[in-house]
Amino acid sequence: MIDLDDLGALEKVDRDGMLAHVRALPEQCRAAWAGVQGLELPDRYLGANKVVIAGMGGSAIGGDLAAEVAGPESSIPVMVLRDYELPAHVDRNTLVIGSSYSGNTEETLAVFQEAHERDCSLVALATGGRLAELAQEWGVPLVSFRYKSQPRAAMGFNLVSLLGILRAMGAVGDLTATLDEATALMAERMPELEPGSPQTYNPAKQLAADLYGRVPVVVGAGSLAPVARRWKSQFNENSKGWSYFEVLPEMDHNAVSGIHFPPGAAEQIYMLFLTGAAAHPRNRLRFELTQQVFEGQGILCRRIEAPGQTTLAQVLTAIQLGDYVSVYLAALYGTDPTAIDDIVGLKRRMSGG
Ligand code: F6R
Repeated sequence: MIDLDDLGALEKVDRDGMLAHVRALPEQCRAAWAGVQGLELPDRYLGANKVVIAGMGGSAIGGDLAAEVAGPESSIPVMVLRDYELPAHVDRNTLVIGSSYSGNTEETLAVFQEAHERDCSLVALATGGRLAELAQEWGVPLVSFRYKSQPRAAMGFNLVSLLGILRAMGAVGDLTATLDEATALMAERMPELEPGSPQTYNPAKQLAADLYGRVPVVVGAGSLAPVARRWKSQFNENSKGWSYFEVLPEMDHNAVSGIHFPPGAAEQIYMLFLTGAAAHPRNRLRFELTQQVFEGQGILCRRIEAPGQTTLAQVLTAIQLGDYVSVYLAALYGTDPTAIDDIVGLKRRMSGG
């Protein structure tokens, strides 16, 4: 196992530079917001009575987060679709955003095509690929950004571009000040999370070391529920490890009773409870009591408080921490955090290649 304070060893395992993308998250958010400032959508779009964001994986999670930001202020629902088909309620009064970094994800393309057939208002969010071509063919707005990385590593661009689209169609207000607060807070926290910060002072390295050899089960509530999913996905894709996520209060009605069997399983688990100032007071109590249930069974647990007062600050600082942890955990496992051979192989087989 490598020493996380050995920068040379870290660089060697992170050969495609995932840490540089994690470091770039605040900058991505700033650049993306600047990039969507002039965005104008056709008048018809402003009358949409719901928004569906269609995407998968790293191009869907920004949608979950954008929906959390929009939730408290938007008079229309914003939902995320990770599938091939549109539900029946999607009609010409719906704005459908096709979100795909590559622009070539088959599920997203299928939904975008169907939305076109239903005469929905359409926006494509892609760096290229078939989705960008369709947008051009059909004369619908294409929101694009230039950032070369794995899709999941461009999450800042994805989330903030989506927020820009929601702003342009009136679902959310001006987020400049909120984004400034969030990016400043991330920048402030970065020095202690960076590789140059020794493990004794570095909460991300410490958490990665604690998680080594265990299955992280990440729990979130409210706006931090999608963050729990992001942590789980980053443990899967960056660290190449097993991981799951749960959501409170729902997990108190099922998962909390499924911790007894099979024998030995509990010893593999590490519960991570993500919470923050915006958590509902009843969920704060649930975090306490739920953690006690797991601890009562001898299961390792850790509470993680996301700093910041706004939803955006909390979700972004929590994502920043999780992204660093997942890369350090990859390093401990000696696996390149960027490569995702299993996902690529499956996509190839699905397309008959
Ligand atoms: C890879 C990643 C994946 C992709 C997903 C969809 O880094 O994050 O979860 O995001 O396979 O691909 P795109 O984003 O190109 O539509």
